[in-house]
Parts: sequence; C-alpha cells; structure tokens
Amino acid sequence: MDVRFDGKTALITGGARGIGYATARLLAEGGAKLALVDINGELVEASARKLAAETRAQVIGVRADITSEDAVSGMIAQVKAQLGAVDIFVSSAAVLDDKLFLESTSADWKRMIDVCLYGPMMCLHKLLPDMVARRYGRVICIASDAARVGQARLSYYAAAKGGVIALVKSVAQEVSKGGVTLNIVAPGATNTELRQERETRMRAEMGEEKYQRRLRTVLRMYPTGRIGEPEDIASTIAFLASGQASWITGQVVSVNGGFAMP
Ligand SMILES: NC(=O)c1ccc[n+]([C@@H]2O[C@H](COP(=O)([O-])OP(=O)(O)OC[C@H]3O[C@@H](n4cnc5c(N)ncnc54)[C@H](O)[C@@H]3O)[C@@H](O)[C@H]2O)c1
Repeated sequence: MDVRFDGKTALITGGARGIGYATARLLAEGGAKLALVDINGELVEASARKLAAETRAQVIGVRADITSEDAVSGMIAQVKAQLGAVDIFVSSAAVLDDKLFLESTSADWKRMIDVCLYGPMMCLHKLLPDMVARRYGRVICIASDAARVGQARLSYYAAAKGGVIALVKSVAQEVSKGGVTLNIVAPGATNTELRQERETRMRAEMGEEKYQRRLRTVLRMYPTGRIGEPEDIASTIAFLASGQASWITGQVVSVNGGFAMP
C-alpha cells in the first residue's frame, strides 16, 4: 500500500528530534509540507534544513514553547502563512521526569502537566476549528503505555499522558463526523535522545553492574526482545495520518514490542 501525503501540510510539535523527527521524515518522503515545531530553536532550524535537504520537501522550523498560549497562536499563524492550512497535527513534544511520587513536588507536576497535557490541549484547541471547517484533519497525539498500565517513577508523566488519552477520545466523539479523525499512539520504550538522557542519568546513579541488571530486566518485558526505534513508532503515526485511516478515530494504538497487551 502506497501511503502518500501530496499537497498536505503537517505540523509536528517536538519535531526537532526523536519520534517527531522520524515521523516528519516519513510524511515528507510521502509528499507532505512540514512544519517542525520545538522549544529548542537552534535544533529545530537545523533539523528543518536537514529534512529539506534529504527529502526535497518544503520544510520550516518554528521555535515555540507549547505551554504558552501566545506562542502557540503565533506559531500556528506562521505555519498557515508559510505552508497553508494544517491538515495533519502530530503532538510529540514532551518532557520526562524520573522520580518517585513521594519525592516529587507540586512544581514537578505543574511543569509536566503544562508540557504534556496543557500544551497538546492548547495546540488542538487552536488547530481543530480549521480542520472542522475544511472537513479534513488527522490528529495523532503521542501518549505512552505508562498511562495505560502505570509505571513506577513516572507517575505524573503517566497522569498527564492519561489526560491526553481522555481528551482525544472525548474530542473524537465531538468532531469525527466531518472527516476529522483523532487518535493516540502509545509507544513503549523507544531509543530516542529523551530515553538516552534518562538512561545516562540512571547509569551514573546506579553504577554499571546494577544498571546492566536493570537493562536485562527491562528487555525481558519485551516479547520482541528489543526496545523500539523511532521509525517503529513513526510508521504507525504515518498510517493514522493518511487517507487510508479515515475510519479509525478515538483509538489508542500501542506500538510497544509486546510490552503491554491491555
Ligand atoms: N522515547 C520513549 O521511550 C517514549 C516512550 C513512550 C512515549 N514517548 C513519547 O513520545 C513522544 C516523543 O518522545 P521522544 O522520545 O521522541 O522525545 P525527544 O525528547 O527526543 O523529543 C521531544 C521534543 O519535544 C521538545 N519539547 C519539549 N518541551 C517542549 C515545549 N514546551 N514546547 C515545544 N517543544 C518541546 C524537545 O525539545 C524535544 O525536541 C513524547 O510525547 C514522549 O512522551 C516516548
């Protein structure tokens, strides 16, 4: 099956790296115009240049902090002016915090909820009206299997992602009649900078022997015997973003190597 995105405009938050960038690459290869949005201005511009050079697609990099309503409004206006109305929205931007709940503070929770729930909600609220009016839209928000099965040390991250799942399912019930679909992709552990940064911290804290033991335990939880690569997740997102997925809405699709089978 040839999945194409010719003439479509895609906006990806957190598009400068990781799963967001891998998704951008697939959509660009399929003919889409891409807006990579990220809080890391230097990286997002470099990533946009790289993607444009490698795929010959029309790509822009936009620096924006999705926790700021003004920044989200400005970013969307810029994307519309440069690339046209947004057909595909992929919400990938996130932060991660590795702490026991009882060691966390309300400031930790607030930052997490701001980036991982309020930010996607704000982007969705501002992008949906055009999609509904144009009777076409594909929204894919990235959550996590941590929200489906729970995960120690990731409680408030999981809570924020659980909020995204509830939001997307509810909004899907409101707008899916008009050619707009909204879905969730819930990845298992995926080999991105976000994960690598966490692993580096853990390795330093635990020492090599304990870290290697933990790594073996983690791998045993994956029936496929490996953690994911960004491309493993991106291919499912690209399918959900395509015209072929027009009868899939309000779903949570786990892409997790068999880690959880809820
Ligand atoms: N990597 C994993 O193991 C894993 C597992 C489950 C779910 N996920 C989810 O997948 C998505 C992508 O994760 P990734 O591993 O590619 O992460 P990543 O850290 O590689 O990329 C996330 C990007 O989001 C950007 N970002 C952070 N805060 C932002 C803000 N306020 N405004 C705009 N941009 C911001 C970062 O600068 C970064 O470039 C996230 O939603 C993450 O929660 C990842």
